[in-house]
Amino acid sequence: MKRTVLCYGTYVLVCIGFLCVHGRSTQTQGTKETNAPQRQAQAAASPCCVYDPNPSHIWNRLYAALLIREDPTGIKYGTDSLDPLLWPSTKYLLAQPSHGRALRILDEFLQTHAESLIHDPVKRAILQRDLWAVFDWSVKRQGVRQGEPSYDGEKRELQIRLAEVLRRLALTPQQIESLPNNYAQAVASGEFAKEYDPAHRDRAFLPPDLFEQHGPWVAVSGYPEPVATAHASAFSRSSFLVFVRLPGGRKATFDYFHTLWDFPQPWIPRPDTAPDQTVINPDLPQFPAGTEVALIRQMMLFDNQGNLVATPVTESVQIRVYRAIAKSGQDCYEIRLSRPQLFGSKSGGLRAIASNEKEFFIFNFSGPDEHEVSPTAPWSLDKYLPVLEECVACHRGIGIDSLNSRSKFLKPNWLQHDHPAEFYEPVHNRGWWEGSATLNLKENRYDWGLLNGYWKASGGLH
Ligand code: HEC
Repeated sequence: MKRTVLCYGTYVLVCIGFLCVHGRSTQTQGTKETNAPQRQAQAAASPCCVYDPNPSHIWNRLYAALLIREDPTGIKYGTDSLDPLLWPSTKYLLAQPSHGRALRILDEFLQTHAESLIHDPVKRAILQRDLWAVFDWSVKRQGVRQGEPSYDGEKRELQIRLAEVLRRLALTPQQIESLPNNYAQAVASGEFAKEYDPAHRDRAFLPPDLFEQHGPWVAVSGYPEPVATAHASAFSRSSFLVFVRLPGGRKATFDYFHTLWDFPQPWIPRPDTAPDQTVINPDLPQFPAGTEVALIRQMMLFDNQGNLVATPVTESVQIRVYRAIAKSGQDCYEIRLSRPQLFGSKSGGLRAIASNEKEFFIFNFSGPDEHEVSPTAPWSLDKYLPVLEECVACHRGIGIDSLNSRSKFLKPNWLQHDHPAEFYEPVHNRGWWEGSATLNLKENRYDWGLLNGYWKASGGLH
């Protein structure tokens, strides 16, 4: 059977066209440390003190040098961003002066064995996660213009140091196992509403029964590949779980999956330019209003034996509720990890994205680093839509047509079916099979091979 490989690169670029429209300026990703009261108000999230109250603590300085970017007016960006503000063409950390600064601080970290200054496994895990993202970015980073330096030497200088810091930060398998289930902590904190409320459509919620075995939320399997293919490839250090919940409950949800799987012609020839390819039939059976879907991102780490491990730490929860099966029928929510809150054991380290919150686009964005194209211009989020309005730019269409992972329900994929209770037993969360699909994918990636190569060359990890 002919199959269409959905080209997410093109797809995402198309989406970005929709996202980059002029809107109200609501800069939420930046922090300007100008006056004392403002500084105090932001103390918990202060970019200077993520790891320790002392701003000159080397963990704070390392985090600031590698993960926080500053615009020409001194506004700091990416102070608590889920992913580094580093794009495929970014020169930051490779060109001077940031390159020299990064190497100096990494050398200081290594020479003073600063890894032993902080023992808290949660802080060590998060620093490993963040530096690992920088390492992986440097591997795939490439210039956009002809004649531009390739920075190969600078990449190696950065990578060799990052690899060693990463190796030293690695936790034991037992420590990783005992990392907090912060989703459960967030639910227990009472900070978040428990369910969608049509009377408060702007209120984010965290379903307490999301991971419940045989509960109303059904986890979708992408077996043998990760269910969220595009996310798993763009953010290869996380596992992604997709959940669907029809208003009729678990049985109704599986019945609907069966209907989709039984649909006689799920794929049709592509109507436009490429009739030899196929697309998903736009007439798939529809799910009812009230259906909710969730995408959960969880952190992956590697332990001190060099093994990749899925962890129970939730990095983000994205939920879309189908208020109506119609245009503009979706309500969108995101709750995501915040370092200061996680380290301060507040609400499981999770916070809701506000309705006017904006951020620079990172997911699969392959354009130039716009800040380096105009290096003297202040950074601005003006042209971006709020995060929660961006959702429907990628999740367009009505009902099932906006479910981007819908191919996973169709033949020739497996029928999504329920499992006996024992199937879900062995681990702290029931997404473990997605974890293992993601680990397999990561294990075969070039960036992971390269990191292992550095360790082998230095006689480090196994
Ligand atoms: C740049 C495009 C893009 C944006 C923006 C985006 N998503 Fe998605 N989303 C996807 C893709 C693609 C998938 C399919 C899974 C995969 O392949 O990774 C997906 C999957 C999902 C899923 C799982 C169900 C499904 O539709 O497959 C949920 C839930 C979800 N997204 C919610 C959100 C929310 C909430 C937002 C906004 C806060 C959002 N998304 C923003 C591209 C996007």
